[in-house]
Amino acid sequence: MAAAAADRGRGLHETMRCAPSTRRFTGEPVPREALERALDVARFAPSGGNRQGWRVIVIADPGTRVRLRELYERPWEEYLERTGGRAALDAGEASGLPAGRLASLRAADEYAHTFDLAPVHLLACVDLSALAITDAQLPRQSIVGGASIYPFVQNLLLALRHEGLGASFTTLLVPAEEALRELLSIPDGFAVAGHISVGRRADPWPRRLSRRPVAEFTFGERFGRPW
Ligand SMILES: Cc1cc2nc3c(=O)[nH]c(=O)nc-3n(C[C@H](O)[C@H](O)[C@H](O)COP(=O)(O)O)c2cc1C
Repeated sequence: MAAAAADRGRGLHETMRCAPSTRRFTGEPVPREALERALDVARFAPSGGNRQGWRVIVIADPGTRVRLRELYERPWEEYLERTGGRAALDAGEASGLPAGRLASLRAADEYAHTFDLAPVHLLACVDLSALAITDAQLPRQSIVGGASIYPFVQNLLLALRHEGLGASFTTLLVPAEEALRELLSIPDGFAVAGHISVGRRADPWPRRLSRRPVAEFTFGERFGRPW
């Protein structure tokens, strides 16, 4: 309780700087009020035309969580095979991967196979008719459609961190949209945008996250010119 109060006392910058993916959970239940507070602030996210097409399914039922794990494990294994991750995990330190990268891979692999141990899963769905897709005509994949749902998702991740809850955002379940539609009664016209596991973090919070410095991605006047 004291820890949760301390988390709620964190400033915005501090929360933004350290809201890592949490992939191991203690199994303690997630208080409904904490989820309610997080959803209640996340809803102030922007969306094209303020259409607010997000819908969230809160999943705590153990049987449904096991089914979600089964749906997640397959694309995870495919991803590992495709990227050489499985070989690296099997080789361990001999893989030559930097220690941090190997540790992340191990954590993500353990997470995939214990997916159902997160006490709550939030499925972020979106009303496809509410998306303002201004780049639909460009000869490349659309980026803008997601911009009406992912600010909400990020708000939610930060709000969960503010509540002292661990969370991890994933998109590997999205290709299983048809199975999810059936499992969770998602109507036609709504897409699955992503998923968030939520629970009490089992490991200590990291002191800082690893991200590139501002000067590496910010330019002045022309792309690539230092600012
Ligand atoms: C679009 C997107 C998709 C992601 N999909 C997955 C996923 O399927 N599985 C997973 O374990 N993490 C997933 N992540 C989490 C990233 O791996 C994580 O944000 C990144 O490694 C940084 O980790 P950190 O915040 O703990 O430093 C995803 C993140 C984003 C933004």
